[in-house]
Amino acid sequence: MAKWHKVVAEDGFKTTYCFFHRRKQFAIFRLEDGIYATDNSCSHEYSPLCEGMIVEGDVYCPKHGSRFDIRTGAVKDFPATRPVKTYETKVEDGFVWIKA
Ligand code: FES
Repeated sequence: MAKWHKVVAEDGFKTTYCFFHRRKQFAIFRLEDGIYATDNSCSHEYSPLCEGMIVEGDVYCPKHGSRFDIRTGAVKDFPATRPVKTYETKVEDGFVWIKA
């Protein structure tokens, strides 16, 4: 069952943050309308999405350039064909939390 995890101070990162928990990696993204979380591993060959370029709510994988919708995890450009998982987030008491 998913639990809430305290990740980072809300003002502790600029646009992206990588979070490791129990051998799993998460990418935290700050967009203009809120904070979002996805799996950090690209669904193509597991490159870290938190190192990717963010353009208009999408993240480009740094390895081969697949594009993912940060809000939904949907894949928008090849070579990836599978979405990445997204996670519920909240900001509480000045900290970002994710439910995973
Ligand atoms: S590893 Fe991300 S597109 Fe290939």
